[in-house]
Amino acid sequence: MSRHFQHDVLVIGSGAAGLSLALTLPSHLRIAVLSKGDLANGSTFWAQGGVAAVLDNADTVQSHVEDTLNAGGGLCNEAAVRFTVEHSREAIQWLIDLGVPFTRDDHSTVEDGGFEFHLTREGGHSHRRIIHAADATGAAIFRTLLAQARTRPNIELLEQRVAIDLITERRLGLEGERCLGAYVLDRSTGEVDTHSARFTILASGGAAKVYLYTSNPDGACGDGIAMAWRSGCRVGNLEFNQFHPTCLYHPQAKSFLVTEALRGEGAYLKLPNGDRFMERFDPRAELAPRDIVARAIDHEMKRLGIDCVYLDISHKPADFVKTHFPTVYERCLTFGIDITRQAIPVVPAAHYTCGGVLVDQHGRTDVPGLYAIGETSFTGLHGANRMASNSLLECFVYARSAANDIMTQLPDIAQPRDLPSWDASQVTDSDEDVIIAHNWDELRRFMWDYVGIVRTNKRLQRAQHRVRLLLDEIDEFYSNYKVSRDLIELRNLAQVAELMIACAMARKESRGLHYTLDYPDMLPEALDTILAPPTYCG
Ligand code: FUM
Repeated sequence: MSRHFQHDVLVIGSGAAGLSLALTLPSHLRIAVLSKGDLANGSTFWAQGGVAAVLDNADTVQSHVEDTLNAGGGLCNEAAVRFTVEHSREAIQWLIDLGVPFTRDDHSTVEDGGFEFHLTREGGHSHRRIIHAADATGAAIFRTLLAQARTRPNIELLEQRVAIDLITERRLGLEGERCLGAYVLDRSTGEVDTHSARFTILASGGAAKVYLYTSNPDGACGDGIAMAWRSGCRVGNLEFNQFHPTCLYHPQAKSFLVTEALRGEGAYLKLPNGDRFMERFDPRAELAPRDIVARAIDHEMKRLGIDCVYLDISHKPADFVKTHFPTVYERCLTFGIDITRQAIPVVPAAHYTCGGVLVDQHGRTDVPGLYAIGETSFTGLHGANRMASNSLLECFVYARSAANDIMTQLPDIAQPRDLPSWDASQVTDSDEDVIIAHNWDELRRFMWDYVGIVRTNKRLQRAQHRVRLLLDEIDEFYSNYKVSRDLIELRNLAQVAELMIACAMARKESRGLHYTLDYPDMLPEALDTILAPPTYCG
């Protein structure tokens, strides 16, 4: 039996953004936080590097702003950058107050104005400004946020819940555009429940799973972006898919990232013969922004016909390496690689979706009552290339801003409504699930081959043709058969792939993460790529 639930705030996604928003709201609100699988399955848990913030006395807001604008290839929204950076210190203080165990700096003297936590460096940053918990920052933050959420009786943490679509006034044929909640598959019962809410928050992460090789966990399927699009929200800049330069290259090492902080602490990128090569591409060498490093690696791999390059930190003292990078050290050791003595084989892999659902400074989308925060959103912070460790910061700053906005609006918003149940009267059990598995593979492979680090018009056209065929097939399947997690995710992923391709085709230049052989130069004017759905609410 499908069920009906009513909440003040429905949060779709249980990572840094979703949990931060839930914890910032006051305890008299009834909040539900949905997770597609187990709570820890999202990208936050796997984030290694840290959170960029202006914390050191020698650092300035202006410097962090300028570095972000530079990395963003002229496409950042300066107001969004400034807003985020200006709120960075208070966001970090909030996390410290909650008890996040950031790594301390043994050499700092607070009395001399030093900062008590260790700050590391990553590509594009001109200062040490990444606060971290060794090389498992996401896990430390996630555990703290989750532990806090568990102490709050008003926050319901609902696992194995896959949001299918948003419920809007328009969808129900009512007057108005407001979002009223969502239909959600409960994987433990197989039923689709109706969640009615005064405010709905999309905090479901990015869409890097659209690529065959990715650093992301399985759930990164662009669910929030696809649902928002189907509900009438604009999306933007989805051509900017960030490839992390250094994921472990090993047949058994699915999705294992080797944090950029290794390069921040002096690791070198090398060819199989031991030569360094980054200086040939950028004077900042290993600490150039990610788009440049990933493209340089891709170039060298293609030029030499090699399967990977190498990341080498073995020239640093073994104790230093083990203390700063225990996760990377242990994980590599399980594959027989001792990083204190050997270089690590690495390749680029899809890592972060810089574009997303268009939002304002409070995370408000085009649909009233619907917010998007974290990787799902497009705030303008990242421009054409996200600077390392700015994304977790964005999660906290925008989650807190959205929570404050909800509090301001709350007195004027009616209680959650009674909504119609999900209609499953026309569908049956599927007898051909192989179609879903096949389409998953096909989609991820052609996105990797045709919409990857280096693009051309022809490759994009091929991808567009294929994604349209897939979308037709998926739509037919979706109309006839009961929903499953795999089907819901595939539908979303194919939708977002189509939007990524459309954005990439619209950009007739190379900028930041979007590089095409047909338009290798950057145009003088930097413009966002904004797509509006046929049902656009504006
Ligand atoms: O390399 C890393 O640790 C990743 C950081 C980030 O994506 O911000």
